[in-house]
Amino acid sequence: MEKKRSNFSSKLGFVLAAAGSAVGLGNLWRFPYLAAKYGGGIFLLVYLVLAITFGFALMITEVAIGRKTRLSAIGAFKKLDKKFGFIGIVASLVPVIIVPYYCIIGGWVTKYLGVFLTGGAKAASADDYFTGFITKPGEPLIWFVVFLLLTAGVVLVGVQKGIEKASKIIMPCLLVLTIGITVYGLFQPGAMDGVLYYLKPDFSRLSGTTVLAAMGQLFYSMSLAMGIMITYGSYMQTEDHLESSVRQIEIFDTVIAFLAGLMIIPAVFAFSGGDAAALGKGPSLMFVTLPKVFDSMAFGNVIGAVFFIMVLFAALTSAISLLETVVSIIHDKWGIERRKGTVIITLLIMLVGAPISLGFGVLDFIAPLGMSLLDFFDFISNSILMPIVAFLTCIFVGFVMKPKIITDEVEKNGKFKAKGYYSVIIKFIAPVCLIAILVFSILEALGMIVV
Ligand code: PFF
Repeated sequence: MEKKRSNFSSKLGFVLAAAGSAVGLGNLWRFPYLAAKYGGGIFLLVYLVLAITFGFALMITEVAIGRKTRLSAIGAFKKLDKKFGFIGIVASLVPVIIVPYYCIIGGWVTKYLGVFLTGGAKAASADDYFTGFITKPGEPLIWFVVFLLLTAGVVLVGVQKGIEKASKIIMPCLLVLTIGITVYGLFQPGAMDGVLYYLKPDFSRLSGTTVLAAMGQLFYSMSLAMGIMITYGSYMQTEDHLESSVRQIEIFDTVIAFLAGLMIIPAVFAFSGGDAAALGKGPSLMFVTLPKVFDSMAFGNVIGAVFFIMVLFAALTSAISLLETVVSIIHDKWGIERRKGTVIITLLIMLVGAPISLGFGVLDFIAPLGMSLLDFFDFISNSILMPIVAFLTCIFVGFVMKPKIITDEVEKNGKFKAKGYYSVIIKFIAPVCLIAILVFSILEALGMIVV
């Protein structure tokens, strides 16, 4: 039986739903730590350049493929050309790899919400608090499961719509609170050095690693190169203007990431000295820096709790869209009914997530390529699989289907202002850069080049 594919009722509906998936831990947690680690201003600059070139071209492509075929990634590529159905399968692997570790970070956020709710700002501001927490065997696992069950519960009970509605109010509040915390941080002694570090590009730190990290982050943050935007596009109305919708989502996502960086990086200078060790904290940066900021504020416990509850919402909406994607993949592929699929996937996430969580403590001797298990999963999805998917998509659209198939779709309702620009990027610039970056990243991971 052919079911009618439901559409978003308005352009705003599409933009908000896609932005809800896009804005999440990628913006608030991942972007600031990468920017801090990879040279501040230079990372920001590279990220922005990639966003208006690759990010723009790829998001247009994915949304257009979805709207044209009215199918999710696996079906969509197959429908366009049977021989290239495999691109959809590779793309679908990405959310499968991301979702377990995404829920682990979601668990950390939930834990910190609990800490601030119980008046723990002072304790959480200590340097070794976070490390003490993640190296424990039991506690991070429990919070991981709490976050996962919350996500799965929403999907099982079918209250995603309610969560999305709430997040339409919560997201703007998060934006306002982030701006408030940023302004507070900027007035702390030493913060201006951090602003300079974050905004002024230091070209001596430009390297392949910086570009690779920025590119992986771009895909991750905008939910690209993993089939998600194809799915969102498949629900988009033909009457809506595709180009301007894509621009809005990208601007929104980038502004949030930029602000998160401006909130966290100057704070690292004001509260932790801003030296290389403090900046290179990696995944723990947000959890180490922000508690120090909150602890120094009047009503720090309340502000911290409000902040983390909002971050939790942002993380939840993204995790829900990840889980739903994985459930619909196994539904489309093997016909597994959705509720059953949700239970199966939730159990699998627990199985895969547990060792990743323990990878910071009892299992820290497992260090593939010298990375923690979480970093390793992150690396495989963001630095290997996503560039591969993006490369294949560009080649497929640029040379097999030809860009006209996308530009015609975009032009179904108005002019495609950046049409010429789009075609050049998708055919030439993007594939060449992607392959260069991919080769570089593999060589680097194998230790064949040192940067
Ligand atoms: N874009 C999300 C973030 O920045 O947190 C991560 C993400 C969410 C990726 C949902 C994929 C997805 F389906």
